[in-house]
Amino acid sequence: MSNAVPQPKPLSIGPYTLDSPFVLAPMAGVTDRPFRALCRRFGAGMTTSEMTTADTSLWQSAKSRHRLDLDLDAEPVAVQIAGSEPALLADAARACVDRGAQIIDINMGCPAKKVCRKLAGSALLRDERLVAAILEAVVGAVDVPVTLKTRTGWDAEHRNAPRIARIAEGAGIVALTIHGRTRADKYRGEAEYATIAEVKSRVSIPVIANGDIRTFEKSLEVLKLTGADGLMIGRAAQGRPWIFAELNAALRGQSSFAPLEKNDLRAMMLGHLDDLHRFYGESTGVRVARKHLTWYCEHLANAEEYRNRVVRVDSASEQLALTVEYFDRPDGGFSRAA
Ligand SMILES: Cc1cc2nc3c(=O)[nH]c(=O)nc-3n(C[C@H](O)[C@H](O)[C@H](O)COP(=O)(O)O)c2cc1C
Repeated sequence: MSNAVPQPKPLSIGPYTLDSPFVLAPMAGVTDRPFRALCRRFGAGMTTSEMTTADTSLWQSAKSRHRLDLDLDAEPVAVQIAGSEPALLADAARACVDRGAQIIDINMGCPAKKVCRKLAGSALLRDERLVAAILEAVVGAVDVPVTLKTRTGWDAEHRNAPRIARIAEGAGIVALTIHGRTRADKYRGEAEYATIAEVKSRVSIPVIANGDIRTFEKSLEVLKLTGADGLMIGRAAQGRPWIFAELNAALRGQSSFAPLEKNDLRAMMLGHLDDLHRFYGESTGVRVARKHLTWYCEHLANAEEYRNRVVRVDSASEQLALTVEYFDRPDGGFSRAA
């Protein structure tokens, strides 16, 4: 990569100017506090908590408690809420700010049945008046910046994100993230960026493009196609939190970025496991860690036997011991393709 990479303007969300235009996507069940901390360490410009229901009466559940366990030392602290009733969302936003949220992100992008049946997530896109009511209620309820994450529309015939974007800007939303799929697409097919470009051309608030960005080359392509101010990375960070360091280095024009030495990789994985075990407690922590270990193994050499064993054990000590054993092998470490 030459030094001639065009440098985007720094991405600002309200008063917060981010160090990197690459931000981590909120992913329920994945981007918990331990994983967000890891991505921050590798240079993610911002991370956002997993979606939490706007119904605060459900916040005593273990799931909500973990989702609202915020990383208060990682500014800006962004918390995502989802719901369909303006008053509930406004209350939830206030409660999040009381817990330390510095940015409230509203999710209108989730295709999950559970969320859509209650008309939250991307189902809301069908009702633009309700969208306006929700955004105005939340913006009016808190003194912190409010952002919106959404998809390109309801389905291929109803790509109304550009209209939603105008409504959002009018309501006082300070930044938008658009995932280049419709609600009907779920995660199928390829993300498209033309609608994101159209959104960008209609508003003057920052727009973050999202969907299928896995490499620096793709990042440049999406920036060029959309004119976006930032890029959001989701699944490509699973098992590969160092992707943010790679993308930042490439953006600075550094050609060959060695992600991590074997010892650093080992320390990182052991630290991540330890964090998960502490954060959730041993039983849930071991379960959550299995997902991350499976993703890590996609980037590890000769990891098949290790993966098969490590996802089957039930104790924290066994997960840690098997990981140490794997890295003690002379042929353990990054695969060539990592
Ligand atoms: C397991 C999983 C959980 C997700 N949870 C959320 C969520 O809580 N809130 C949200 O706005 N989007 C959620 N998403 C969508 C992502 O934020 C992102 O928009 C989508 O994965 C596309 O980006 P990518 O291609 O970089 O993964 C989730 C996606 C996945 C795969």
